[in-house]
Amino acid sequence: MARIDGDRWDLASSVGATATMVAAARAVASREPDPLIDDPFAAALVRAVGIDFFTKLVDGELTLPETGESAVASVMTDVMAVRTKFFDDFFTDAAAAGIRQAVILASGLDSRAYRLNWPDGTVVFEIDQPEVLEFKDSTLAEIGAHPSADRRAVAVDLRDDWPAALRTHGFDPREPTAWSAEGLLVYLPPEAQDRLFDAITDLSAPGSRLATEYHPDAGASLGQRSRALREQWRAHDPDGAIPDLGDLVYSGERNHPADYLAGQDWTVSTRTRPEVFAAYGRHFDGGALDMLKNSLALTAVKS
Ligand SMILES: C[S@@+](CC[C@H](N)C(=O)[O-])C[C@H]1O[C@@H](n2cnc3c(N)ncnc32)[C@H](O)[C@@H]1O
Repeated sequence: MARIDGDRWDLASSVGATATMVAAARAVASREPDPLIDDPFAAALVRAVGIDFFTKLVDGELTLPETGESAVASVMTDVMAVRTKFFDDFFTDAAAAGIRQAVILASGLDSRAYRLNWPDGTVVFEIDQPEVLEFKDSTLAEIGAHPSADRRAVAVDLRDDWPAALRTHGFDPREPTAWSAEGLLVYLPPEAQDRLFDAITDLSAPGSRLATEYHPDAGASLGQRSRALREQWRAHDPDGAIPDLGDLVYSGERNHPADYLAGQDWTVSTRTRPEVFAAYGRHFDGGALDMLKNSLALTAVKS
């Protein structure tokens, strides 16, 4: 179903299912030989959501194509490993530079507040929809996981007044902050993306940092990948209510985050996806990943 204003979801439906999908990719990436990332919580979270297709994927019980156009699962694993490492390094570098306040926007099943080595005194805010955060909190508590920072879950829709909710949870706009928006922008309408950056800018003391990514042709690139994945998911679960992941993104014209942020006192750096792959010594398969070749990893520092 296409998106509507104010729509909500859990981790098995609509945009929530995308959080389960990327967590599945992190689980698979973590158990590869010579892994780029180690997310010890992803598999348990995916199993707890209970989508059979993703559970079997993390348990290695599905045989999916590994080459050619339908190799979406293996491609997604590489892409998520590199993406996760990029954001992990962003937070680790910000902490090394003395930043002790972090905000993970649209945190989904991301477990950075549990698995990164945060310096003492770091506060990590996670923002996502209520059902998503409640599920993650209770599942990680059940398996005995403890946050490695002062983690504060802020259950609010990012199209609503999330800055007010963030302040209520103790966010201090006088302190520099490290912000991430990972796997989020395409799920926001263009004007909500602008409002998001306006609010981040308002809340950011000088020296704050931001990391995000930008897919210039989001509709086409994600649509192509999600159609192939959906076919594999449907073959496994012919009667399931499988969301069309391509339908969940807001395509069409939107401001380029690099230009928008540069206009608001941010110094912006971008790297293409192939450049980020190369920086981590990973091969960017120009055939299978063609639709991502123009995607940008963006970091910015507030003056
Ligand atoms: C692709 S997942 C990415 C999750 C996480 N950043 C990661 O990389 O694992 C997209 C996430 O964005 C969240 N999201 C999308 N739109 C949102 C909104 N309007 N308000 C709150 N969360 C939102 C979803 O709930 C979901 O957890």
